[in-house]
Amino acid sequence: MVIRPVRLEDVEDLRRNCFSAMSSDEVRAVVGKELARDGNDSVWLVAEDESGEVVATCTVTRLAHRMCRHRADLGGFVIAPRMQGSGLARRIVDAAREEAQQWGCSILEISCRGGTHAENAYKGLGFVEWGRLNGGYEDFDEVYDQVHLAMRIDPR
Ligand SMILES: CC(C)(COP(=O)(O)OP(=O)(O)OC[C@H]1O[C@@H](n2cnc3c(N)ncnc32)[C@H](O)[C@@H]1OP(=O)(O)O)[C@@H](O)C(=O)NCCC(=O)NCCS
Repeated sequence: MVIRPVRLEDVEDLRRNCFSAMSSDEVRAVVGKELARDGNDSVWLVAEDESGEVVATCTVTRLAHRMCRHRADLGGFVIAPRMQGSGLARRIVDAAREEAQQWGCSILEISCRGGTHAENAYKGLGFVEWGRLNGGYEDFDEVYDQVHLAMRIDPR
């Protein structure tokens, strides 16, 4: 498994394995925007399996506020269903931590819907809940808490 920055040729794998609700054009647009961006304070990571297929994705973004530059946020974390529970989540968080450490960050954070597998998985990966907004997410047919979690990391 290789974890590396996203490339334009990842679009079809990303759509098939991670963003099945999006069209290829929509995925191409967001990847294109990412590749055109000055990537100093954020990186879009993907995981490529032994056959070269992209099976997971996440972004790592350093917070922009002057008083929050020591924090990095992990977002858009999706692992293809067939690879969930395989240990890949931990490898991706390790890679995200490496990126954040290189920016000098000491806190890695993530958010999710309460009561979902993601909440359990993030806690299992070492994130600690620091905030919960009851009913913070209203989906079409369900209401969820918005849960904020963080882990301390050693800055480089
Ligand atoms: C959320 C997501 C990225 C997590 O990845 P995953 O592969 O399912 O995570 P895992 O099941 O391997 O869990 C991660 C760790 O937490 C542990 N864990 C999972 N559930 C746990 C529980 N109930 N109690 C304790 N530990 C738990 C696992 O054992 C694992 O630890 P390990 O690496 O030592 O084995 C993945 O499920 C996913 O892509 N879901 C769909 C998209 C999504 O909902 N994304 C989140 C948006 S916020």
